[in-house]
Amino acid sequence: MLSLLAEQLEAARDRLEPAVFDYYSAGSGQEVTVGEAEAAWGSFRLRPRVLHDVSTVDLNVELLGARVSSPFVVAPMAFHALAHPDGECETFAGAGRAGALGVLSTRSSRRIEEVAAAATAPWWFQAYGMRDRALTHALVRRAADAGAGAIVLTVDTPYVGRKGKVSGVRIAVPDDQFLVNLAQHLVPGTVAREAAEQDPSMTPDYIAELAEVSGLPVLVKGVLRGDEAVRCLDAGAAGVVVSNHGGRQLDRALPSALALADVVTAVAGRAPVLVDGGIRTGTDALLALALGADAVLVGRPLLWALAAGGAEAVAAALDALAEDLRHVLAVAGAARIAELDSSMVIRL
Ligand code: FNR
Repeated sequence: MLSLLAEQLEAARDRLEPAVFDYYSAGSGQEVTVGEAEAAWGSFRLRPRVLHDVSTVDLNVELLGARVSSPFVVAPMAFHALAHPDGECETFAGAGRAGALGVLSTRSSRRIEEVAAAATAPWWFQAYGMRDRALTHALVRRAADAGAGAIVLTVDTPYVGRKGKVSGVRIAVPDDQFLVNLAQHLVPGTVAREAAEQDPSMTPDYIAELAEVSGLPVLVKGVLRGDEAVRCLDAGAAGVVVSNHGGRQLDRALPSALALADVVTAVAGRAPVLVDGGIRTGTDALLALALGADAVLVGRPLLWALAAGGAEAVAAALDALAEDLRHVLAVAGAARIAELDSSMVIRL
């Protein structure tokens, strides 16, 4: 982990309620998958190039039409107001300062429109297929109206993973955070937490349905197999995110670092492939990009930054990651992300 990120983690540990810190850190089951994510990036080694002009290094990327200054993307995460009073508004202001794309969670604790007003870089909206489909439709329409550039449909959560077997995490998210985006759409008398529960009957048809309702490209998040990625693309997905939900869904799911190559091969350039889970240094990102990812999402470190120092700390974390990537790209012999390829990586 980069030293700034480690400092922010310690500051967050000091500042956050222990129950909130545990909720953010937790994995599901016996926490095997969450524990393996970072180490899995460590199982690769680089084959550097030499005598290439790396006097300037360009980290710019374009993702589904969004031009951003680096391939680091803010992962969608629930309930930022547990970490900072301004919640996602602060996170997205920080991402904007760093020129980074952010993905806003369906479970955000600030209204979509408020976060959109605070965001100064492109942003996407993460959707769950909720039991009340009209609720999902209303949210993706609002996100589109507020300026989201894409929908990220998370598909690894037919039921919410059982967390905290190890750590005993129990946290009751207050209604004012849980309902902030939902309340206005609920028919009186509806039990909000039931209507907003994930719909376990969701199938690939839902991808085209959300694209139609929102008018936006739909990426599918939570794919760990090449054949499943192809199934999503065939159903109309505009991209996939290789992810095991930060080890919070199926425990003993394989690390995304080890799932990435299979997905990249199967997708075969048809659509962007993003990846997340345990990305903590520029080198982790370099490996992901060389293995064929188009961008990398960063999760927990940005919650730690938010708790440690609000928007400024979020921007500092993203800037530090980008700066580290710039450095290792140069030392590995690449002046642009497009110069990376899988010949630069071997698995130990
Ligand atoms: C998440 N994640 C997540 N994903 C999603 O699609 N919708 C969500 O609402 C959430 N909520 C959420 C809350 C918290 C506290 C965490 C830690 C994670 C998963 C997230 O987008 C991402 O896949 C992982 O967090 C990436 O792994 P790292 O960087 O945290 O290791």
